[in-house]
Amino acid sequence: MSNHVNIVEVGPRDGLQNEKQSIDVATKVELIEELADAGLKSVEAGAFVSPKWVPQMAASDEVLAKIKRKEGVSYPVLTPNIKGYEGARSGKADTIAIFGAASESFSKKNINATIEESLERFKPVVEAAKADGVRVRGYVSCVLGCPYEGKIPLENVVRVSKALYDMGAYEISLGDTIGVGTPGEARAMIRAVAGEVPVAALAGHFHDTYGQALANIYASLEEGVRSFDSSVSGLGGCPYAPGASGNVATEDVVYMLHGSGFETGADLDALVRTSVWISERLGRHPASKVTRAKTAATIQKM
Ligand code: HMG
Ligand code: MG
Repeated sequence: MSNHVNIVEVGPRDGLQNEKQSIDVATKVELIEELADAGLKSVEAGAFVSPKWVPQMAASDEVLAKIKRKEGVSYPVLTPNIKGYEGARSGKADTIAIFGAASESFSKKNINATIEESLERFKPVVEAAKADGVRVRGYVSCVLGCPYEGKIPLENVVRVSKALYDMGAYEISLGDTIGVGTPGEARAMIRAVAGEVPVAALAGHFHDTYGQALANIYASLEEGVRSFDSSVSGLGGCPYAPGASGNVATEDVVYMLHGSGFETGADLDALVRTSVWISERLGRHPASKVTRAKTAATIQKM
C-alpha cells in the first residue's frame, strides 16, 4: 500500500471561518501562499457562502483573485449552492467542495436545508462543475457525533457519503466536526463507508476537541485512508458547532507521518514558521504541540 499521504490544508477556510477579529485579504493571501510554498498540494482558499452566515469568508473572491497559484497545487473553495458555484467559477476556482452532513439538525443549522434538500441542491452544482472541468470534493459533517443530536447512526454517514460519491465527487472527506470520535469509532466508521465508496476516495477530517485526532488519523491509515485534512497551527472551529476545537494541526500530522515512514511532500520547518507567524498575527499561541516543542529553546535541537 502507498506510503504517500495527501494533506488537504484547510486552515485558511476551516481555520479562519470562525475568527471574530477581522483578518485582511493580504494576510489570507500570504497564509495560502506560504502553505503552498511549504509543499502542500491542496490548500483550501475560502468559501462562497452567505456573508450573513459566515462573515469571515466574505472576501473569498478577492482572495482567489490575488493568490499566486503554484503549478501542481489546487485551491478548493466551498460552494453550498449554485450561487456559490457561480462565484467560485468567476474566481477561476480549480476545485470546489460541496458540504453535506450525516445529521439532520446540523444540516439545517449549517446550510438551512434537510439532508435530502441539500443533496438536491448539490446536483446542479456538480453538473455545472463537470461541464466546466472543475473538480468536486464532498464533505460529510458529524460522522462521529453531532452537537445537536449526539451519536449519529453509521448508515446515515454511509448513505450521504455514497450519494456525494455517486454524484461525482472525487473524494469524500469524513468530518468529525466536533472532535468527539475515538480511534475505535473512526475505524468502524471508515470500514462502514469503505463498503460503499472506495477507500482510495476517502479522506479523514478530524477536529481535536477531545485530543483524539492523531489517534483517529492513525486508525484511518491502518484502514487504508491516504488523505487527511488539517489546519496549520490547529486553527479553527466551526460556527455551527459551538465549542469544537480546530482541526488537527498540520505540523502534528506531518511530524507523525514522516516519523512513521509516510511521505507528504511537506516541509515541516516551513510549516512551523508559518504556524508561528499566523498565530502571532491572530494574537495567540500555536495549538500545535510540534510547533510549541520546536520553538521551545531547550528542545528545539531535536
Ligand atoms: P439561506 O438563507 O437559506 O439562503 O442560506 P437563501 O437561498 O434563502 O438566500 C438568502 C440570501 O443569501 C440571499 O440574499 C441570497 O442571495 C444569499 P438576500 O436576497 O437576502 O440579500 N445567498 C448567498 N450569498 C452568497 N453566497 C451564496 C449564497 N447563497 C444564498 N452561496 C446558505 C443558505 C447555504 C447560503 C447558508 O446557509 C450558508 O451560507 N451556509 C454556509 C455555512 C458555512 O459556511 N458553514 C461552515 C462550513 S461547513 C464546515 O465547516 C464543516 C467542514 O469543515 C467539515 C467538518 O468539519 O465537518 C466542511
Ligand atoms: Mg471542519
